[in-house]
Amino acid sequence: MDFPKGFIWGAATAAYQIEGAAQEDGRGPGIWDTFCRIPGKIKNGDTGDIACDHYHRLDEDLGLIAGLVPNYRFSISWPRVLPEGRGRVNEPGLDFYDRLVDGLLARNVTPWVTLFHWDLPQALQDRGGWANRDILGWFSDYAELMARRLGDRVNNWIILNEPSVYSWMGHGVGINAPGLADRDGFLQCVHHMNMAVGQTYRALKSENAAFRIGSAYTLMPVRGERPDTNPENVALMDAFWNGHFYDPLLKGTYPEITASYLAPFIREGDMNIVRADLDFVGIQHYDAIEVRRNSAYIFDTFFGDKPAHTPKTAMGWSIDPSNFYECLTGFKKRYGDIPLIVTENGIALEDSIDSNGQCPDPRRIDFLRDYIGTLARAMKDGVNVRGYFVWSLMDNFEWGEGYRPRFGLIHVDYARDRRRTPKSSYEWYATLVKTGKIAMTNNI
Ligand code: FCB
Repeated sequence: MDFPKGFIWGAATAAYQIEGAAQEDGRGPGIWDTFCRIPGKIKNGDTGDIACDHYHRLDEDLGLIAGLVPNYRFSISWPRVLPEGRGRVNEPGLDFYDRLVDGLLARNVTPWVTLFHWDLPQALQDRGGWANRDILGWFSDYAELMARRLGDRVNNWIILNEPSVYSWMGHGVGINAPGLADRDGFLQCVHHMNMAVGQTYRALKSENAAFRIGSAYTLMPVRGERPDTNPENVALMDAFWNGHFYDPLLKGTYPEITASYLAPFIREGDMNIVRADLDFVGIQHYDAIEVRRNSAYIFDTFFGDKPAHTPKTAMGWSIDPSNFYECLTGFKKRYGDIPLIVTENGIALEDSIDSNGQCPDPRRIDFLRDYIGTLARAMKDGVNVRGYFVWSLMDNFEWGEGYRPRFGLIHVDYARDRRRTPKSSYEWYATLVKTGKIAMTNNI
């Protein structure tokens, strides 16, 4: 299977998950710093305080990135550059991203900057965070600061990462930071995130018309846990994960099932702002969602059990590439021929270093071969996909799951000075990226 010339191959990370240096060089507190300190919220009591210590190991990591991919997606830590979220700028924080971008460019790696990958400054959360409409002003000031600082060297921008997970897990059911479970706050958060995308897209385009600007969204098939699952619960969950974001962006409407609940928070003119023709839509796929009615959660809707027959990752997620095919082709049917980039896809395993000091991960190679092969098939069948970023460059802090699930193509030994060891999938993916061809045998 061959990929077209010019296909964008990359690897992705996010600031809070890898940087560490949480209290250094003037970085302010973010909502994940706060959340990690609430007992019981993060498995094993893990925090992102040190994470992969990427902040201090930048040079080594730049070399590893350059050996793997020509495109690297990372996020800016908002509290590192604006410790109170707005107002006072932290120069050492900006310097770090200058060094990162310059280091990538010096090694012929193209930077892709995510502006918001969940680590909101705590000072803004204290004012309601994304549930407060004032965030539109706070976010646009922050986005412009970054575009002005890096825009002479960075051309590719991803405005938000997975507003579905942020709004529902963070404001709806309280599993992620900021840990709230409140129906109105959740709906406000959804609408304000959509507003931020439309608004920022236009602002950055007027800053520089050549910028390539998108935003990244989950794309998950949603189905009932059982054949008799109430269709209303399925439609609600599909709205929370898919429709709440793709519908306003691409059709200028909210899904029928939640439109009346969102209505009180929508002002005149808003729907013209949320509707935007981004240069690309970033899609992130890991799994399908099985739905169960559950009155302990907002809208009485929550996850059900996974099907028994699928093999599972270390996250307990199903390995089933047909879900990916269904998403990609279903998206085209639902929204038309939109340019897509897969901004995340990958697998968590519990990889370890063997007695030879190697980290073989044949299951990851199998996963990538099957999912990337499926992507090639969907493209052959007419889905307009321009690129693929693997999640993740290296093992990292997996939010509420802590450090146990390992998503990286590079192993990080947390017990031994966070030593990096490229796994066998690193070599496999580097070969794919260089040749544009999927090797059908494991080279481990
Ligand atoms: C996505 C997140 C990313 C990572 C992967 C496994 O939802 O965007 O930060 O945690 O899942």
